[in-house]
Amino acid sequence: MGNDLRTKLLQAFADRPNEYISGQELAEVLRCSRTAIWKHIEELRKDGFVLEAVRKKGYRIVEVPHKIIPDEIRLGLETKQLGRSIHYEETVDSTQRIAQRLAYDGAAEGTIVIAEEQLGGRGRLERSWHSPKYKGIWMSIILRPRIPIMQTPQLTLLMAVAAVKGIEQATGCEPGIKWPNDLLLNGKKISGILTELQADSDRIHSLIIGIGINVNLELEDYPEELRNTASSLFIETGKEWDRATIVQSILLELEKLYSLYLENGFYPIKLLWESYAVSIGKRVKATTLNGSFTGIAKGITDEGVLLLEDDNGKVHHIYSADILI
Ligand code: BTN
Repeated sequence: MGNDLRTKLLQAFADRPNEYISGQELAEVLRCSRTAIWKHIEELRKDGFVLEAVRKKGYRIVEVPHKIIPDEIRLGLETKQLGRSIHYEETVDSTQRIAQRLAYDGAAEGTIVIAEEQLGGRGRLERSWHSPKYKGIWMSIILRPRIPIMQTPQLTLLMAVAAVKGIEQATGCEPGIKWPNDLLLNGKKISGILTELQADSDRIHSLIIGIGINVNLELEDYPEELRNTASSLFIETGKEWDRATIVQSILLELEKLYSLYLENGFYPIKLLWESYAVSIGKRVKATTLNGSFTGIAKGITDEGVLLLEDDNGKVHHIYSADILI
């Protein structure tokens, strides 16, 4: 009940940005006592919100905390389902592992797990994912699509499109996508996506889409070996970005694209993915478990498989690889 009031209180401020709202009015709208309002205002202050109080006018929020706490994400979140349930932790090994446990225990579709720091962040191809504290977005999203298992790679591509659009919406930067789902800015990786599946032979129980976005990392935040290939929105733009705003935009784009996909299939998503792809039409080297292939990246199939034409005109289907452009 207490948390419910806090959410409603934050919503009341979000509905009238920059306006002062009196304690009396808040108590009336939220149907509680003025003491309850005052108590919640004090709690918000303890959590890092800066609230201004002016006699005869009331309260207004001047600054929201720098952490990415659930209230900050909820404030201004326009989705219906995605991100409506938020599991937040300061430090975790991997948000993927927590999301898997929650999904197994029956968490609703659209539940997200978000952490300030991951000590064992996981990347594709058994790599680790560097996730320093307060600097990035380390998030896993639980989906429960009713689609054949073989179509799940399509949702990874869909997530990449949602991330590009969300980042563009929030920051004005438009990253390119390198197959299958690396986001690049000025040729350097600023984001990666890892999708994991809980399924039996004929049914998907849940799909956990993990996304890591390097938002405010500085060069010194990276280990030496990543400095040539990885970057962040901060490094590329010289500006610090609000992580909660980026999360909100990505969740909104994801929700729109996900319902487009469930209604109309993969084709419209494929067109969008191709419009952001930086590797298509270029000469690339694909390193797979079965060796390396060099050739022209021709496009993707309806299942999201990369088509690579070698110098003899033979087209290879690439399911999993590292791509060098
Ligand atoms: C890649 O290798 O490019 C994929 C990186 C995915 C990282 C994200 S961060 C949130 C989620 N939790 C993890 O442990 N990994 C994913």
